[in-house]
Amino acid sequence: METLARDFLAEDPHALPLQQLDPGQPILFQHDAFWPYFERLRQENPVHYSPTGMYGPYWSITKYKHIMQIEANHEVFSSDVKYGGIAIRDQLLDFTLPMFIAMDPPIHDSQRAAVEPIVSKQSLAELEVLIRSRAKTVLDNLPIGETFDWVDRVSIELTTQLLATMLDFPWEDRRKLTRWSDVATAVPGAGIVESDDQRKAELLECLQYFLVLWNQRINAPPKGDLISLMAHNEATRHQGPMEYLGNLLLLIIGGNDTTRNSITGGLYALNKFPDEYTKLLANPGLVPNMVPEIIRWQTPLAHMRRTATRDFEFEGKKIHAGDKVILWYVSGNYDEEVIPNAARLAIDRDRPRRHLSFGFGLHRCLGERLADLQLRIVWEEILARFGRIEVVEEPRRVFSSFVKGYSELLVRIPPDAVRN
Ligand code: HEM
Repeated sequence: METLARDFLAEDPHALPLQQLDPGQPILFQHDAFWPYFERLRQENPVHYSPTGMYGPYWSITKYKHIMQIEANHEVFSSDVKYGGIAIRDQLLDFTLPMFIAMDPPIHDSQRAAVEPIVSKQSLAELEVLIRSRAKTVLDNLPIGETFDWVDRVSIELTTQLLATMLDFPWEDRRKLTRWSDVATAVPGAGIVESDDQRKAELLECLQYFLVLWNQRINAPPKGDLISLMAHNEATRHQGPMEYLGNLLLLIIGGNDTTRNSITGGLYALNKFPDEYTKLLANPGLVPNMVPEIIRWQTPLAHMRRTATRDFEFEGKKIHAGDKVILWYVSGNYDEEVIPNAARLAIDRDRPRRHLSFGFGLHRCLGERLADLQLRIVWEEILARFGRIEVVEEPRRVFSSFVKGYSELLVRIPPDAVRN
């Protein structure tokens, strides 16, 4: 008899046998329907095995404290690309992209150190001036009294501009960065690319483009942009083309999707919790506290993945060498044992930086301060110009259980919300 495909959206996660729970299905994220899966797992089986995942069998780690324990044990739980990478979907074996987020020490440490100057005090001070002036231009040009897509007009535009600045990338071509970021994380057939072959071809075009920039930078005196930093550092200047492409994609996705979805998620969340929006309008001084709370509430990367390098007993479960272990940040960030009233956005929450959105341990996000800076400036400039910006309808979400984000958010700035 032919097996019928499961209709995940029709299932009741509270009624299914535990073993059949499969929270990694992208469709659950596209429909914002994954929450009850993690609620149940946190309560009944926080370290859980799904034998029939769309991307193969995997363990789900769902509690805050367990995610930190696994991240701290990088000898047993490796990020190395040779085991499949850092996401639930394995990297393609014939198109492996080494990048330092998917490496263990010592190479990880030296490559990370090569690009770390991008978040030095001096670099952040220089970037702050540029980010602010560009945010002003983008916000000053928004239509008033008309419905428009916040994702495209604001979130994508601002994060792409920042990325182009960090890479010293030709300005007029900057939307290529958006495309390559989308292609790199796309699931074939879900709207961005049709096939793995198309994905590979576009990423190779990306490499060709960046090889020209590499050759320019390596033959010029060192500067502060990411390509020049890599071209002039011993740890990265001898990398092969696929490793260069891998590290570029890491920086492009790291600096793009995540901040983009935090900018969108913030406006969406404030509309979902209008009393918080009222609090913010009355007291813009709350912005620095609100930014990390938005990043927790949104959790722009739903998970990171590790692979067990040997058999290991964890919380009474036997994890075997080679098993895929998914650290569900989106579940840990809503673990009521650590974060009270977690489902609520609370812009004046105590200890708002207590969250897992940036990971933990040696791979903890390198761009954390940059993301923080970008979001703080965007909100300061929004509040200087506008009162309440209205969400017109529910957002469209991305088909992915890795990037937790939005493809469209229709909004309207009422004419009486414009400040003089
Ligand atoms: C709200 C925005 C952001 C979020 C939520 C985010 C999230 C993350 C997460 C979850 C990790 C992996 C942590 C782990 O495995 O423990 C990571 C690593 C990384 N992120 Fe971000 N990120 C953001 C912004 C940025 C920006 C703006 C950059 C720009 C350069 C960036 C660059 C990186 C890099 C290079 C790594 C790899 C670090 C390593 O392996 O040592 N991220 N990020």
